[in-house]
Amino acid sequence: LRRVRIPHLHEMKQRGERWAMLTAYDMYSAQVFDEAGIPALLVGDSAGNNVLGYATTLPVTVEEMLPLTRAVATAARRALVVADLPFGSYQGSPEQAYATGVRFMKEGLAHAVKLEGGAEMAPQIERLVTGGVPVCAHIGFTPQSEHALGGYKVQGRGEQADALVADALAVQQAGAFAVVMEMVPAPIAARITQELSIPTIGIGAGPDCDAQVLVWQDMAGLRGGKGARFVKQYADLRSTLAQAARTYAEDVSAGTFPGPEHSFDS
Ligand code: KIV
Ligand code: NA
Repeated sequence: LRRVRIPHLHEMKQRGERWAMLTAYDMYSAQVFDEAGIPALLVGDSAGNNVLGYATTLPVTVEEMLPLTRAVATAARRALVVADLPFGSYQGSPEQAYATGVRFMKEGLAHAVKLEGGAEMAPQIERLVTGGVPVCAHIGFTPQSEHALGGYKVQGRGEQADALVADALAVQQAGAFAVVMEMVPAPIAARITQELSIPTIGIGAGPDCDAQVLVWQDMAGLRGGKGARFVKQYADLRSTLAQAARTYAEDVSAGTFPGPEHSFDS
């Protein structure tokens, strides 16, 4: 059982092998996805709206992310574990980014970090990478900037395309080992994927990226409700769990649980 490492992801790009990333925020999700062969797990700041109960990722703190990251990194035996740097923990300066990145590796046991932004984050990426913290970049729609961007909108359309390509090249030049592209027109994502030597990881970025990423609760249908256009639901965990809870409660009401096999003799 060999640990997946960054060069393996680069080799997969060379070979034209597509791969899947999922988020994970706790021990069992990490174990299950790791055992399913998912090569890279993202401890996303999407924990904000998938675990911690916030409306967005913006309130998420380093202190909240560290224990989630440590749980995933401890549980995943093979997957590369990437942790999101929360809003406000890296934008201030390259030194702030480095200090935060080091915390994620020392206290969170992460193998790499992810941060949002293109060319404007190149100094942060460079500082992290030269200091030994591998960085995955994230361009296109960046949820930590949803207020500045005016909501969930496709990025890089029309005359924005060249700026998006420039961002992709800038993060690669700064030393990022991969780049997430979120809500980007498929043809632009395809062009970037072809131009970059590092893997592109798409979410709402079409089929031609080197990899794809989804929030696991969206992928497995735990969240419920109508998801984003870019989500495909592969299970209906919300119904499965609700049914289990109802059946358990009915058994308790009826006195059929616990049975003798669940009980202890004197
Ligand atoms: O936080 C997150 O889950 C993410 C991915 C959706 C890319 O940033
Ligand atoms: Na994120």
